[in-house]
Amino acid sequence: MQINANSLSLQAVNFISMNVFTTKHALQKAISAVREVNSTLGFVPTMGALHEGHLSLIQTALDENELVVVSIFVNPTQFNNSSDLEHYPRSLALDKTKLESLGSSKILIYAPEVDDVYGEAISTSTFDFGGLEAQMEGKFRPGHFDGVGTVVHQLFKIVSPDFAYFGEKDFQQLAIINKLVELTESPVQIVGCPIARAENGLALSSRNTRLSLEEQGHAAKIFAILKEVKQKFGTKNANELKEWVNHQFDNDAVLSLEYFEISDEITLKPMRNKQPNTVYRAFIAVHIRDVRLIDNIALN
Ligand code: PAJ
Repeated sequence: MQINANSLSLQAVNFISMNVFTTKHALQKAISAVREVNSTLGFVPTMGALHEGHLSLIQTALDENELVVVSIFVNPTQFNNSSDLEHYPRSLALDKTKLESLGSSKILIYAPEVDDVYGEAISTSTFDFGGLEAQMEGKFRPGHFDGVGTVVHQLFKIVSPDFAYFGEKDFQQLAIINKLVELTESPVQIVGCPIARAENGLALSSRNTRLSLEEQGHAAKIFAILKEVKQKFGTKNANELKEWVNHQFDNDAVLSLEYFEISDEITLKPMRNKQPNTVYRAFIAVHIRDVRLIDNIALN
């Protein structure tokens, strides 16, 4: 349903808060109609197919702000693989139900079409993220972070939030967004949120819906390996740990390892020799058929 934001009162928006705004114009009008003086606006950008990981970010945003915008937009410019874009799960009606289940009247949903975000011609800006983009996901998904930077910068301009919430599940993305805010001098504060996991340890991801239950069971091995790496981190060096992780996938018919890396959490550069006063994190990307899963863990 399209909303005529001209006639919105706070009460009206409370009542219809789970309606979906499909244009930035309608969204902006709704925000200015309901936003109270000195209140803060939180923003949670997503690509939909919402799960408990997304909902944990949204709950934090609700706890910390008077009004929260959740965007649901599968951003074409961050997919370096057209099959991944084509198969990316889309479930707006179900997403809306999940957001309603949070029982809050403070959420506005922005679910635009591509042209509302990009205009007539889709183009990607290029950014110098100071080398953060050259590691891990950047190596294996060329152009991905320019696409993320482009859309997040555009969404920040549309929503003008005070706080924006991102998950540590995509730790490199979180680092890139912090850099983006610095580069573009955007007046928004970035809040990093912990990784939500399934009971078996698998990091929640929209892509998990493309796995059978049996495959999801196999995928629990990813976090089990990360936890063991953390245990071994005190006594083994990076090469030994990499070798050990590679070995865990040697005879695995279901999971194939794309990369495993131990990196400085700030620069994201691979660890050579352990340095004092440096925080390290292990990062992993694994394939099950054409489904790509990533995860990470803090090591010290
Ligand atoms: P998406 O994959 O939908 O994720 C939206 C946000 O939810 C991201 O900040 C992501 O890190 C967070 N998230 C996903 N799974 C999580 C989990 N298990 N625990 C905690 N947080 C989790 O990331 C994107 O979309 C896009 O790149 C986007 C930033 C929206 C730009 O298009």
